[in-house]
Amino acid sequence: MLRETQWVKRPRATVAAVSGEWVHMIISIVGIGYIGLPTAVMFALGGHRVVGMDLNGKAVAALNKGRVIIEEPQLAEAVAEAVRGGNLSASMKVEPADAYVICVPTPILPDRRADMQAVRSAAESLLPLLKKGDTVILESTSPPGTTRDLIAPILARSGLDPLRDLQVAYCPERVLPGRILIEMKENNRIVGGLTASAAVAVRELYRSFVAGDIYLTDATTAEMTKLMENTYRDVNIALANELAKICERMDINAWDVIAMANRHPRVHLHQPGPGVGGHCIAVDPWFIVEKQPELAQMIALARRTNDGMPEHVRERVRALLPEAGGRVCVLGVTYKPDVDDMRESPVIELIRELRLLPGVEVVVSDPHVDFEGSNRIGIEEAAAGADLLLLAVNHKEFKAPDFVRLSACMRQAVVLDTRNFWSGADLAAKGFAYHLLGMGRNPS
Ligand SMILES: NC(=O)c1ccc[n+]([C@@H]2O[C@H](COP(=O)([O-])OP(=O)(O)OC[C@H]3O[C@@H](n4cnc5c(N)ncnc54)[C@H](O)[C@@H]3O)[C@@H](O)[C@H]2O)c1
Repeated sequence: MLRETQWVKRPRATVAAVSGEWVHMIISIVGIGYIGLPTAVMFALGGHRVVGMDLNGKAVAALNKGRVIIEEPQLAEAVAEAVRGGNLSASMKVEPADAYVICVPTPILPDRRADMQAVRSAAESLLPLLKKGDTVILESTSPPGTTRDLIAPILARSGLDPLRDLQVAYCPERVLPGRILIEMKENNRIVGGLTASAAVAVRELYRSFVAGDIYLTDATTAEMTKLMENTYRDVNIALANELAKICERMDINAWDVIAMANRHPRVHLHQPGPGVGGHCIAVDPWFIVEKQPELAQMIALARRTNDGMPEHVRERVRALLPEAGGRVCVLGVTYKPDVDDMRESPVIELIRELRLLPGVEVVVSDPHVDFEGSNRIGIEEAAAGADLLLLAVNHKEFKAPDFVRLSACMRQAVVLDTRNFWSGADLAAKGFAYHLLGMGRNPS
């Protein structure tokens, strides 16, 4: 796939656009994780000389051997090819370059403000190296104003003027884990420049591998745009979760309502579930709330609504278990189906909540991750003697277990499906009492 794409040198950068020459830039990628490493590979295969910098010695050593320590389709092959071709290497310190791309983490602090420490220190690490004409790009998801109010003042400590002497821009990522290399090439991108000329220069740089459209704006607009993309989805999911709770009270099937409503040409309701996880949708909206807490009312409420779902599911479980408690078999613990990522997973919170109930024991099965040995516990082993089967993540491995055997091995054959993944009628025919998040009554 990668080989078929046009990894040929293109005329690029402002110099090249003017002169028509093939100019190879030296690019330093600061932070070679899930975003930085694929970005480094794309630039390298696009004809630039790229050095990936990271504080993690293992990531650096692996890259220098042409290997990777993270899982992402096609990445290992692409890294091997780029390193073999001589365009990609790694270092534990930032090397002098023409362009610097900051791809370090921006996690959330316990008080729900963005932790900008890694961004700050990454920007500071450039200070001894910056020269007139260099490009500095922030890719990390950041609160609006970061490039202008945090990055630019740090860069100014070099003695250079970030507006006149450097090309500084914010260029966010929109890739989906599992499709990162494909989407990095195909997705549309936004470039927000501190100046108009910075936006143009950075667009030309990304043109070396981006086939999608590249839209130019200012840095703060680009930062807010990135956050609103994920906030839109968080608010939409919160709406679906609220609908699910309302429907449970009113004996309506929320999933049917959503499916019917989505037949409207301008409606796209998302799905309810046991909460929202991952390091983007569950985190990014707080970066807006942090900036305007009085105004970001709906955004904060959506976050709290989604964060409240594990507690809601706990109450549904409590009602289905014998009064003295019982054993719950939880299927799936990752933050979404078919990935090996548990970051911010609401299922972890749900399990914690369940264990606070008196007399409740929890066994977890998940083939994708090792959560208390979850990848070594099969569905039947986890379900043996259980009082409730709780479908928490709709991994494809859970689509069609042998329900007859499962109902036979459980102490009581009761299911709570939080993803509308199974057919209630089918499970009822196989001996289960089937319950669905977002629906109050048993379908039988
Ligand atoms: N992963 C995604 O799907 C995704 C999508 C869109 C945006 N983002 C954003 O991209 C940014 C990076 O995310 P990620 O998933 O690549 O994170 P990651 O944790 O996978 O990688 C970050 C890397 O940066 C390194 N690092 C930390 N501090 C450093 C420093 N001061 N100097 C050099 N290296 C340093 C870490 O060792 C790590 O290898 C975050 O802001 C994230 O929100 C991620």
